[in-house]
Amino acid sequence: MKLYLAVAQELGAMIRGGTLRSGEKLPSIREFCRTRGVSPATVLHAYDTLAAEGLIESSPRSGYYVLEKRKAAAVPRTSTPSANSTRVLVSDLVFDTLEATRDREVVPLGSAFPSPTLFPWTRLARYLGGSARHMNPWSTVASLPPGDLELRRQIARRYLRLGMTIGVEQIIITAGALEALNLSLQAITRPGDTIAIESPTFYGCLQAAERLGLHVVEIPTHPHEGVDLTGLSRAIAKHPIRACWFMTTLHHPTGATAPPEKKRDLVRLLTGHGIPLIEDDAYAELQYSSPPSPPAKAFDDKGWVLHCGSFSKCLAPGYRLGWLAAGRFTQEVARQKIESSLATSLPIQQCIAQMLHHGGYEAHLVRLREVLASQQAAALNSVQRHFPAGFRVAQPLGGYFLWIECAASVDALEVHRLAVESGISVAPGPMFSARRQFGNFLRLNCGHPWTTSMDRAVQRLGEILRRGS
Ligand SMILES: Cc1ncc(COP(=O)(O)O)c(C=O)c1O
Repeated sequence: MKLYLAVAQELGAMIRGGTLRSGEKLPSIREFCRTRGVSPATVLHAYDTLAAEGLIESSPRSGYYVLEKRKAAAVPRTSTPSANSTRVLVSDLVFDTLEATRDREVVPLGSAFPSPTLFPWTRLARYLGGSARHMNPWSTVASLPPGDLELRRQIARRYLRLGMTIGVEQIIITAGALEALNLSLQAITRPGDTIAIESPTFYGCLQAAERLGLHVVEIPTHPHEGVDLTGLSRAIAKHPIRACWFMTTLHHPTGATAPPEKKRDLVRLLTGHGIPLIEDDAYAELQYSSPPSPPAKAFDDKGWVLHCGSFSKCLAPGYRLGWLAAGRFTQEVARQKIESSLATSLPIQQCIAQMLHHGGYEAHLVRLREVLASQQAAALNSVQRHFPAGFRVAQPLGGYFLWIECAASVDALEVHRLAVESGISVAPGPMFSARRQFGNFLRLNCGHPWTTSMDRAVQRLGEILRRGS
């Protein structure tokens, strides 16, 4: 970690923990340099970071002071989707809004990706070069689905850390979690079937349902506790549900993580009805807490959960590597994989296997989670200072998204349009709903270093919201 960040984190912890109280003066830059043996640039950078987090402010010719703590905003309410099923038509909206996040000049508050600066590119490149040089051409055939044995072994060992015994024979390597999720849906459903999804949900889920001609029933979902089991039971009684696609940990976009007992009850409910659960667990490794919450798959003793994971968010974005542990559906999914893409790039699989085995993956994750947690705190602080009163926001236990409910009069699509004109991207709520609900919600990305330019972008959003509401 950079020295200025370490200093900022140390001081931030003292402020949050109450050792430094509001109104108190921080050591002058000269004093700090003298006592700690760091450069003035390091201290200045650390103080700027704390100022961008809204923890301190500078008073001209006087120094830096701790700011008053703000009251936490209310959490958005449980969603109230229609109980009827519907076809999905969101692709155009999703493509249009994602397009706005491609430009590197645009402030990436609407981006779906964390900052590339957070990943161990040099070590990955070293392992990738090594695996390409030493690749045994015969292993191409041996590593057809389910995939490279060493990588599957490493993934099985990570499950073991969560207390889960998943044999390598159940694990299928895929091109990212998205392929794992799509293969799962293809293996289980036929066009015209109905699936249950959360409300809101990840647009990739909506796009998959649209592409496969599925109907969806949206289930009420709470931004902290996740999917509502009473709502799900009602939907099961009313509709012939073929499968559920849920994110039980660090749900996208809300960040909800269901408590373990709820995950257990969910698996019991679905197993009792013989309904497969496609568990989208793309953000599992970004939980700030230790030990992390286990997935619903941990409670699956009958093989009804298809657990889909990814290295895209936690280790190697762009390498397109994910997997699934498909329980009783393993053979059918492996067949779908062969029919649709034959196999996943072997050097990439071997590179990630090496990285998991030797490359300091755990140490990287610890650092990544620390940085994301401090960026989340800074982003929440910016939102609290700049958004007009009355908004609601959940504070997720990990990841890098904030899901914000603005005043009912706000039109998130219009906010998105005006923000793009100001060189800022945001993700408007209707992207996350089959019926384009959440018209007054925004998803903000806090996976990038929280600089003063991010803070200013949130300030600009606040101005746009004031004008529109
Ligand atoms: C909830 C969720 N699931 C799955 C994916 C896809 O993951 P991958 O990049 O591994 O295909 C994403 C990516 O944005 C996501 O947010």
